[in-house]
Amino acid sequence: MAIRNLRYKGDEILKKKSREIETIDEKLQTLIDDMIETMHKYNGVGLAAVQVGILKRVIVIDGPIAMINPVILKTKGKQEVDEGCLSFPNEFAKVIRPTEVTAEYTDRDGKRIKVKAKELLAQAICHEVDHLNGEVFIDKIIPGTLEYIEPTDEK
Ligand code: NI
Repeated sequence: MAIRNLRYKGDEILKKKSREIETIDEKLQTLIDDMIETMHKYNGVGLAAVQVGILKRVIVIDGPIAMINPVILKTKGKQEVDEGCLSFPNEFAKVIRPTEVTAEYTDRDGKRIKVKAKELLAQAICHEVDHLNGEVFIDKIIPGTLEYIEPTDEK
């Protein structure tokens, strides 16, 4: 496993739409392992492949869970939550996210899974799926809530 280089604010790749994954091969498994390791190293809650420069529809969420070609089928409710992103290491703000999300994804063994997620997991899925669509949280924050905080030390 290896730590991948993160892409940060201002990098045009973060605005690009990621492509569907058609084959689950060794290269994808390595990417997933590296993404998990990178997420943990920087104390992240989730990471999308685009954040390590790969435009493929795969995300990891602390657990860890890997979601290939994730799709949000249904959302319910609204919650105001604090959010940050490994691509915006100093910036934190409040955003509105659903309280509950029904999503579907392929796991790393190729099995299609349906999941009903709440609270932090619902928030994380929404945040990471946004990345796959070229959207970043900073563009949807509640005005006036942006704070600059020095990042905590790496593990
Ligand atoms: Ni992010």
